Amino acid sequence: MSDTMNVLLTGGTGFLGEYLLVELLEGGHSVWAHYRSESRKLDTIRFLSSLGLPRSAESLKWFKGEILEADEQWEQWCQEYKGIDEVDTLLHSAASTRLHMDESGEPLKTNLGSTTALNKLMERKPLNVHIISTAYVCGLIQGEVVTEVNHPRGDFVNVYEESKWEAEQIWMGKATILRPSVIIGHSETGRCTSFGGYYILFQAAHLLDRLMADSKNLDRLNLDIDIPANPNGVTNVIPVDYVARAAVRIMEKPQYHNNIYHLTHSNPPTHEWTLSHVCNRFNVGGLRFTGVGASFVQPRNRIERMVWRQMQTILLHFASNPLFDRANTDSVIGDLTVPPITSGYLDKIIDYGIEKEWGL
Ligand SMILES: NC(=O)c1ccc[n+]([C@@H]2O[C@H](COP(=O)([O-])OP(=O)(O)OC[C@H]3O[C@@H](n4cnc5c(N)ncnc54)[C@H](OP(=O)(O)O)[C@@H]3O)[C@@H](O)[C@H]2O)c1
Repeated sequence: MSDTMNVLLTGGTGFLGEYLLVELLEGGHSVWAHYRSESRKLDTIRFLSSLGLPRSAESLKWFKGEILEADEQWEQWCQEYKGIDEVDTLLHSAASTRLHMDESGEPLKTNLGSTTALNKLMERKPLNVHIISTAYVCGLIQGEVVTEVNHPRGDFVNVYEESKWEAEQIWMGKATILRPSVIIGHSETGRCTSFGGYYILFQAAHLLDRLMADSKNLDRLNLDIDIPANPNGVTNVIPVDYVARAAVRIMEKPQYHNNIYHLTHSNPPTHEWTLSHVCNRFNVGGLRFTGVGASFVQPRNRIERMVWRQMQTILLHFASNPLFDRANTDSVIGDLTVPPITSGYLDKIIDYGIEKEWGL
């Protein structure tokens, strides 16, 4: 067992953040968790207590403040929250996961703003820093192997990826860079609180299923819809519990800090496999991959128009399919099994999404 850490955690009320809390608390570490909203904090407290956590009141403490002004607010936090100045580690998971820029300047505002503020704070209060980045800081790549290095500025699919790349540039050499791929539900329970990315395909199929229930004259097994993407491309999805466990295991080994780690799947599902599972699950057919760049047939009815709309998002998701090398990760935590992506697991995460109405 490693020495215990006293961790300042940002984003602890988020999808991944809750599981980072679980792993830290189960590992015997102490946590000061930052939060913004009382209701999100309460949800997280309820989730943790369903697992019997924290085991002692001393091990988890909450603090509220503006992390975009962390360097300016630090002294005030130290007065208000007794003991917070004893933290020795920063785990920065908070981020805006908006893919495209909104009128308030997100995701750049949070993703770069928090990086700048926390960096300044580290000059005054040095900590072991670990940041949650994303494997997609490599930019748009088709089928090539991506290694655990600092990538040159790529051709980004969205502003979110760019903001995470920019943040990495600021932290590089001063922090452990943990790069998960597309995070999906818990490998055993299917639990998820953030239904983007991979889930969009499931949501689209679920919506299609309900729309077709009202269109009795449609042949749902012969929809005749082309998808201009590569069937053998892969979507690198990774269960949230693995990401959290892997992150904390790496944090527990100081000799491996300040390096880059892909928290990605070594055997990710192909687009073809995922689509065929979704078609079976929702009893639809006639959707086929026609290769990258193939032309669309104009939509002929409202079902096809709906598929078209969803497809814009899904195609972006299908377009970038790098193969992630995990040499660094495997050399440190190669003994930690990556849960396989099976049909049973996919059904579990789809069931959970339907039960939670895809978080809408
Ligand atoms: N989900 C994925 O597929 C994926 C893949 C790769 C990497 N990542 C990275 O993993 C990390 C966690 O993502 P997630 O999926 O767990 O996202 P999430 O569920 O949206 O959680 C984001 C967390 O960040 C907090 N946050 C957002 N803006 C903030 C601000 N301005 N100040 C303070 N806190 C702020 C949120 O607080 P509230 O709870 O108050 O909203 C929440 O706790 C992020 O760094 C993300 O970039 C995610």
